[in-house]
Amino acid sequence: KPKKITSICCIGAGYVGGPTMAVMAQKNPDIKVTVVDLNKQRIADWNDSDLSKLPIFEPGLDQVVAEARGRNLFFSTNVDDAIREADMIFISVNTPTKTYGSGKGMAADLKYIELCARQIAQIATTDKIVVEKSTLPVKTAQAIKSILDHTGNGVKFQILSNPEFLAEGTAMTDLANPDRVLIGGEQTEEGLKAIQSLVDVYATWIPKAQILTTNIWSSELSKLVANAFLAQRVSSINAISELCEASGANVEEVAKAIGMDSRIGPKFLKASVGFGGSCFQKDILNLVYISKSLGLTEVADYWEQVIIMNNHQRDRFANNIVSTLYNTVSGKKIAFLGWAFKKDTNDTRESAAIYVADKLIDEQAQISVYDPKVTAVQMQADLNYLNTRSEAENENFVKTETDAYKALEGAHAIAVLTEWDEFKTYNWQRIYESMSKPAFVFDGRNVLDKTALEAIGFRVKAIGK
Ligand code: NAD
Ligand code: UGA
Repeated sequence: KPKKITSICCIGAGYVGGPTMAVMAQKNPDIKVTVVDLNKQRIADWNDSDLSKLPIFEPGLDQVVAEARGRNLFFSTNVDDAIREADMIFISVNTPTKTYGSGKGMAADLKYIELCARQIAQIATTDKIVVEKSTLPVKTAQAIKSILDHTGNGVKFQILSNPEFLAEGTAMTDLANPDRVLIGGEQTEEGLKAIQSLVDVYATWIPKAQILTTNIWSSELSKLVANAFLAQRVSSINAISELCEASGANVEEVAKAIGMDSRIGPKFLKASVGFGGSCFQKDILNLVYISKSLGLTEVADYWEQVIIMNNHQRDRFANNIVSTLYNTVSGKKIAFLGWAFKKDTNDTRESAAIYVADKLIDEQAQISVYDPKVTAVQMQADLNYLNTRSEAENENFVKTETDAYKALEGAHAIAVLTEWDEFKTYNWQRIYESMSKPAFVFDGRNVLDKTALEAIGFRVKAIGK
């Protein structure tokens, strides 16, 4: 019989570990769920009695935490105790692109994963099911298994792959009602039992038909492939947006026309300034790296093109601002609406805004930014991370405002970088009056009403129109 899980530990209290475990605990009040992290501040924030201080912003997350925290959901920095107590351990740590050594700039950096495996190996005194929740290169389970199986203390481990498909900003609804849950494991008697134990955890709220079980390599690879396909759709429509601008077609009309073909489908066809987020680029680079390592040059080149197109779309947006503003933005105020990589999140990782800002600073523009959820400290950290210039220079060129109207006041141009709903509700007449003329708007998300803005007097450039 498969083991009934009573205690879960999740290593990594980030964008995935936090919300995923909050929902798992909410739906399984009889399972004790402990989320651990090395980052003391992060854990303190998860435990803050003021729910507005949770370390990540996700609509609906606060209610679920309020319901489960202290009942059967716990956040702690005591990694060892949580590992010791658990019969199932999720690894949900970050797996960024390597920044050093072989595979630099492409391969996934698995040092955090390996540290977790070694810590589990060292601490465990009872049998454990170890679940890969992080996104990992295909075959990582083999490495984890090899570390766990050489402890010599007789503890038995089963490794499962259970990739997460939630998108930020909609994490809570994605978790409560996922298209599918994917669980991969060894196709042996013990492996199948471990799979069933995890199926039973999910089955308390997810219909069985949506819980898909596979061999472990299919599961690992499917996660990379899902992100590659999604990103590919964005790059495909973005490529067409440039063609639309050059030909007089309208990318929204084209997207609607092709999306009504049920074989293509309407979702994920919004042209934009380029996709961001911590995962699309990282996971495609990883797929490209794996393909190259296996000698599959054409496969690698095919997927790399998705990234090349995305970089081009960001550059094109920045270049368009400069050329439209009479080929110089030096000393001009360019106001950014939005910094997060998409709406309804405070996450800025790989956001197009960072790269557009970097290009405009090279042109000596004075950038003023408003984002409803991103702090000035975060924006400076994002720019400094690029290492293009000194921190002092970044601070000089980029100012953050907490009032949108103040950010836009006196600007020569507005660039919309994130599709926050509130931007549509602004008093655009008032904004027009406060700006330098001619007043330009570059809508990198196609969220504003172009005709209405033009009627006020703005000169509007949207994507693909
Ligand atoms: P994150 O950086 O927000 O969180 C990771 C956390 O792990 C950090 O708080 C870090 O301190 C902690 N950590 C690292 N090493 C540790 C260790 N040895 N012991 C304890 N804690 C440790 O990352 P994330 O966005 O949650 O992503 C985690 C994984 O999930 C990645 O592999 C990512 O590709 C994948 N993923 C992310 C998303 C997303 O929307 N962000 C969605 C699906 C999958
Ligand atoms: C994405 C996937 O959608 C999730 O399924 C996956 O779990 C996650 O990556 C991950 O592995 O991290 P996420 O990056 O949170 O989720 O957000 P998306 O909604 O996919 O948006 C990614 C980027 O693409 C954003 O910058 C968004 O603005 C952009 N995008 C998306 C477009 O420009 N056009 C679209 O039509 C859709």
